[in-house]
Order: sequence, then structure tokens, then C-alpha cells
Amino acid sequence: MQLIHRRSFLKGSVLATLAAAQGPAFSAEGAKTAEEGKGAAGGQPLVTTPPALQIPAPTSMGVAWGVGARATGFVDVGRKADLSDARRFFAGDAGLKALDDAALSVRLTDLTPDSVYYYRTGTVPIDFQGAYKILPGEPVLSDIASFRTLGPSAPASFAVINDTHENNKAFALLAEKIEALKPAVTVWNGDLCNWLDQMPKMVQNLLNPGLCGFAVSRPFLFVPGNHDYRGVLARELPRLLMTREPAERDSAYWKLGRNFAVRQGDIALIGLDTGEDKPDGRSEWGQLAQFAPYRELQARWLADALEKPEIKAAPFVVAFCHIPLIDDAPGANPGDLEEGYASWQRPCNKLWAPLFEKHGVQLVVTAHRHKFRFDAPAAGRSWAHAVGGSGCELKPDRALTVLEGKVVGGQLKLIAHDLTSGTVLGEYTFKPRAST
Ligand SMILES: [Fe+2]
Ligand SMILES: [Fe+2]
Repeated sequence: MQLIHRRSFLKGSVLATLAAAQGPAFSAEGAKTAEEGKGAAGGQPLVTTPPALQIPAPTSMGVAWGVGARATGFVDVGRKADLSDARRFFAGDAGLKALDDAALSVRLTDLTPDSVYYYRTGTVPIDFQGAYKILPGEPVLSDIASFRTLGPSAPASFAVINDTHENNKAFALLAEKIEALKPAVTVWNGDLCNWLDQMPKMVQNLLNPGLCGFAVSRPFLFVPGNHDYRGVLARELPRLLMTREPAERDSAYWKLGRNFAVRQGDIALIGLDTGEDKPDGRSEWGQLAQFAPYRELQARWLADALEKPEIKAAPFVVAFCHIPLIDDAPGANPGDLEEGYASWQRPCNKLWAPLFEKHGVQLVVTAHRHKFRFDAPAAGRSWAHAVGGSGCELKPDRALTVLEGKVVGGQLKLIAHDLTSGTVLGEYTFKPRAST
């Protein structure tokens, strides 16, 4: 699908035209298009961003979008382009449907792996006048778009962007490259934000960065960075960036909503969260950080995840986390132990690296340094370590970078694209792992 600019997404697309010609799937009595919905919130558009697909899995998908007034919502999803076979999923996980004035999110479940689905969002303004007087408005429907679920028999490919730091101009360039590469999924490897303190800005930067609807048809996997934990609204992030579907993990790991272990073709994609970059006791955190036990719990989860049959059977295992796990300049950035900048995550290395070694993980992709680097396997370390480049700068030494991973001819290829110079920074090949 072509990159959809916000305006064209709201106004119409080929699919929407097709759907309109074939008639709506549901009784759309009183339903408005998104464009018509403008003004529903006192002059503000009711729908403020295109939908952003996230937390993809073989049998589930998340959809979130921005709203400009108190509203609830739903997603219609089906296998037919006209949605005549669609099911409707509502925002909200329990007895009450969601009611939010910034963003809505819906979990689509019971999907079939490696399958194309069509969907549209519906946004319903709510005039909440009192406990017994709640007045729903007319639903505002988005255009119809499509997505493909993940799965072990799906095409094996991914792209990685990182450290976008709310730079929408740079993001538009990254999105353009992703659109050209057409990966099955994009890993957004942390530091999406600088800090979180203004909800309207968060909605635009996280759900519609680059103003290009980059995740309308291609889902992203979010891996948190240290900056994504900063600011007074950091705890509100799940309103915009959904936590993983609870059914994906055992009850012992219910807290780990950011970790993922999913198959995309021959690749098992593993998401780990390095958390803040400095120790919990540092004064900057005001006694509000407790990442040490969180990292330890992730190690137990990782040990179990790597034993799961579908992960164990994957010829390639690629793990993603934001902060590098290798110290490339020992002593230069002692912030992980003392004062100053922390360039790598020593505790995560100690906890997770033995598991990478044991299970033959071939590649760990990190970020945080804003400069591409590749650490080939070395003595005592069987896994390669790639550090993504910048996602927000256009300087020669901080090249804007998109990493591309794909299985070609039975081998995994990693290609580092430098968008600043239009060159390739490096190309690396990995053989399938021996069975573990
Ligand atoms: Fe960063
Ligand atoms: Fe970072």
C-alpha cells in the first residue's frame, strides 16, 4: 500500500471507494466520514490521527488512533475488502468500553496467522453529562485499509528504526525508505520521545510521526528506550503504545507487556526492554526507578521464550533492545556504574547474554548511540551485535539509518541503509543456527 498522507487517508482511498461502491458492511445509519466528523469536538477534528497498527502477532493485532474529544470506538475487521464479513471489536478490555479524550486502542484477536485482513476504525463522540445521562454521537468511520498478520510461513523480513526523538521531518524520510523496502514489520527500537509531558504532542509524535500514516498498513513492534521512560506522563504511554496481548505470556510474566517473542517466517523476533540507562539509585530518577528486578524477570521470561516450540524451531533468532549490550570504549562512559552518560547496559548483558549464547541467537540489534556500528562475533561471544544509527539527525557522522533484515536464499541478511548519503553502510550474512 502506498504511503498514505493524513489528508488522503481521511478523505478517501481506492479501497474506500471500492467499499463505498459495494455498500457498507454494517448499518452505517447516521455514520459520518472522518472528514465530516470535523467540528464534532468544538471545531477540533474528532479523529486526530490515522490508525497505527502495533503489537502484531500471528493471531492478534492492535490498532490505536488519536481523538480530539471524549470518545469511545471500535474496529471492524474482516477478510473481504468490503468488510461484508467483518467482526466488530470495541475499545476497552472489560465491562466498560474505553472512554478517552486523547487516543483509543483496540485489540483484534482470534485472527489467522499469515493472512490479509481489512479494517476500519469507528470513533463515537460521547457527551458525558452525568452518571445517568450519557449521550453518544454518530460514529465517524475511517477509510478501509489492510494488514497482514505475522506467522511462521509468512515472508521473513523486518526493518529497524530507532532514536527518532520526535523529529517528524527525519521520520518522514525513514518512513519513505520503509515504504520502499516493504518489510513485513518495522521494529521501532526506542527513544521515540525526548520526554513525555504533553499529551497532544505525544499523540501526534507516536501515532502519526512524519504526518504520513506510516503504520496504517504495516505494523510496528515497539521496543522502549530510556527516553520513553522520562517525563511526568511516561506512565500514560500505554494509552498510545499498547502493551502486548496478555494471552501471549504465562501468568508469571503478566507485568512484561513490552516483551515479545514472535515468528515472522524463518525469523524469531525477540523484544527486550533495557529500561533506563543508569542505575536505579541515580538522583535523576527521584527514587522512582526500579528497573533492576524488571530486567531479572525478563531474563526468566527470555529463558522460557527461547524454549517455546515455534521459537526453538526458527532458523534465525534476532533480539532487539534499545541500549547496547557491549562496551565499545571501556572506561569512556562509566554512567552505568558511576556518574555521567551510560553508553551500554552491563546488567542486561550479564542477565541475557548467557541465554543468547546457549540458544544460538545470531544477532542482537540495539540503538541509543545514534551512530551505526556492527560488532562481529568474537571470542566468548557467538552472537553479533548491531547498533542502529540515528533516527533524528542529518549529520554525516550521525547518519540517518534504516536497518533491513530479510531471509534470502536460506540466509539472513542485515543491510544498513544510510539515508544521509544514500549509501549502504554494511551488509552482513548469517547462516541458520544449529538446532539447540
Ligand atoms: Fe537516543
Ligand atoms: Fe537512548
